[in-house]
Amino acid sequence: MSSITLRAEPGAAVPPEMAARLVEQTSANQPLAPGRMVGEVILDVQNISLSFGGVKALADISFNVKEHEIRAIIGPNGAGKSSLLNCINGVYQPQQGSISFRGKTFKHMNSHQVAVMGVARTFQSLALFKGMSVLDNIMTGRNLRIKSNLFLQALRIGPAEKEEMRHREFVEHIIDFLEIQAHRKTPVGQLPYGLQKRVDLGRALAMEPQVLLLDEPMAGMNVEEKQDMCRFVLDVNDEFGTTVVLIEHDMGVVMDISDRVVVLDYGKKIGDGTPGEVRNNPDVIKAYLGTSS
Ligand SMILES: Nc1ncnc2c1ncn2[C@@H]1O[C@H](COP(=O)(O)OP(=O)(O)O)[C@@H](O)[C@H]1O
Ligand SMILES: [Mg+2]
Repeated sequence: MSSITLRAEPGAAVPPEMAARLVEQTSANQPLAPGRMVGEVILDVQNISLSFGGVKALADISFNVKEHEIRAIIGPNGAGKSSLLNCINGVYQPQQGSISFRGKTFKHMNSHQVAVMGVARTFQSLALFKGMSVLDNIMTGRNLRIKSNLFLQALRIGPAEKEEMRHREFVEHIIDFLEIQAHRKTPVGQLPYGLQKRVDLGRALAMEPQVLLLDEPMAGMNVEEKQDMCRFVLDVNDEFGTTVVLIEHDMGVVMDISDRVVVLDYGKKIGDGTPGEVRNNPDVIKAYLGTSS
């Protein structure tokens, strides 16, 4: 993945007020690599455990995510990665532990409440409406932000009409950003897999998330599609300042684009640190290669 462009230079198109806020926050924190503007902790997972009957999917997992970083979650199949994202976005309720978002702790929040709070996600197996157009699929991500009542919406009158126009414009911007203009009216089921994954990202972006959870966004893609997806993830992170939590199997991608990596194995956390630290962690090497030598 060496041809992937890495971080944008300082002064990339981060909105000025966000840039100012991030610089303010980071100056009090740790030293940063050139071009990085990582802030303080936005998402804090504290000692969560999750079981399904006898299966312990997650055992006492703690880790945090800092504002504006790209945080990777890696680990062998069945390690608990998707379950962890499901706990963060309210699909699963961990039996123990808690999760805080911007310092506010929540124990039992459903997916809708988590989404309203500013956390969106994409799914390992696509959750798109295959018969609906690209535009309409991305529009479904917008429902969360639609304020007028259903009756006015159905009649498309008054404020509802204006609001719908605003949302459609927003969705058109996302379509431009993801470079899928040519497919805006195409039923999603007719698109190649790589583009369907891009539409799924678009649907999540339509929610205007502060934190984006991506579950294997590059799985099943060819090299070119992966490079495109990497570029979009980096652009979302740089241009919108969106914090990204990413489950990914391709180590090249993980090492290239993430700021910090958490490693799970059999529901336990066995590593946490920068890509360099994790790569040299004997427990991680053992989990991946079956030997620490
Ligand atoms: N809804 C569920 N019901 C029962 N077991 C589950 C469920 N979801 C996950 N698991 C189990 O939890 C473990 C972790 O799964 P998962 O989080 O999907 O792992 P990963 O995403 O790392 O491959 C596996 O043993 C899996 O079978
Ligand atoms: Mg998974």
